[in-house]
Amino acid sequence: MSLSNSASKLQAIRWARPRLDILDQLLLPHASTYIDICSSADGHRAIATMQTRGAPAIAIVAALSLAAELLGSSREKVSQLNTEAASAFIEERLDFLATSRPTAVNLFDAIRKLKAVVRNAATNNDDVVGAYVSAAEAMLAADVADNQAIGRLGAEFIRQRATGNELKVLTHCNTGALATAGHGTALGIIRSLHNSEKSLDHVYFSETRPYNQGARLTAYELLVEEIPATLVCDSAVSALLRSDPSIRAIVVGADRVARNGDTANKIGTYQLAITAKFHGRDFIVAAPTTSIDLDLASGAGIVIEERSQDEVLTTEGYDIESVLSGGELKRAAVRVAPVGVNAWNPSFDVTPADLITAVVTEKGVFVKAEGTKEFDLLQSLANL
Ligand code: MRU
Repeated sequence: MSLSNSASKLQAIRWARPRLDILDQLLLPHASTYIDICSSADGHRAIATMQTRGAPAIAIVAALSLAAELLGSSREKVSQLNTEAASAFIEERLDFLATSRPTAVNLFDAIRKLKAVVRNAATNNDDVVGAYVSAAEAMLAADVADNQAIGRLGAEFIRQRATGNELKVLTHCNTGALATAGHGTALGIIRSLHNSEKSLDHVYFSETRPYNQGARLTAYELLVEEIPATLVCDSAVSALLRSDPSIRAIVVGADRVARNGDTANKIGTYQLAITAKFHGRDFIVAAPTTSIDLDLASGAGIVIEERSQDEVLTTEGYDIESVLSGGELKRAAVRVAPVGVNAWNPSFDVTPADLITAVVTEKGVFVKAEGTKEFDLLQSLANL
């Protein structure tokens, strides 16, 4: 079976049973290099080192990396186990994959569902590996379909609320084909707006220091899709909103949305939501329901990943000669802060529900009940 994110020109995840290849996002935008992921150990490494990133992509690469292992290097070993032991082996590998990154709930949601599938197969004396691989493949396909629905629903919502002739939006981090199985969430809405009859006038996107997912990855996706766009410093957004009232909405993705709508997303999202409110613009969170953590009443319980302070103390890029020559790409970190200074580097922050206009999922667009400051996503999903 061969599945890939054919919804987009960019393919971050390529799966053709039993082979998994991922686009190395550490080399983008200057080199498009695929890496073969043969095992859960490879998957764990690719996620922890950010060769693959973005909440939905992390979950799918984790799931498929173990599928590749079960059809490859562990095939013989697992074939000799009874169904109980095969299920226990798979669950142990899933527990290991769960330690790769802590904040995006999609990974834990996928692991919970995959464990249920293998336990069920073991109880019924079914083919545990077959059941696992089919379920992992179904996650890849579902994510593409979910993102297309998010794109359509979000684009409709933004268009309905937009006043004036021009429509511009701003986004943060990277939430496109590279961060998902295809199309993207917030960037999927932008893609859908651009492809709609009345095209989007312009997109602004923030560089997203310190990892530069905006400057490197969103820039690349927007170029490939030929969507008119301008990069701004994270610190330029308030000035930009004040100068251009046709920027109607800020659209972002999510790593984990609590029941009340509090949303963990890339660091800097919270301050964007504050400035959106101050300037009277919509602040829209786009996320598949796999990013909603119904076990969490609020964002207070979300574990925020802290990354190395070196990411803040330095600026990472690529040696310009190696980029221009098209030869071997050389990554280079340039020290900015003086030696001896410390830095705090949380990878995500939590935006309170109060600042969020709507949560766009594949199942519908959720808003707060009149006069309330929080969403009731449990109820909203139950009402569908
Ligand atoms: O650290 P990253 O690059 O994995 O962070 C990505 C984000 O914060 C995205 O906005 C989020 O995962 C949604 S991707 C559809």
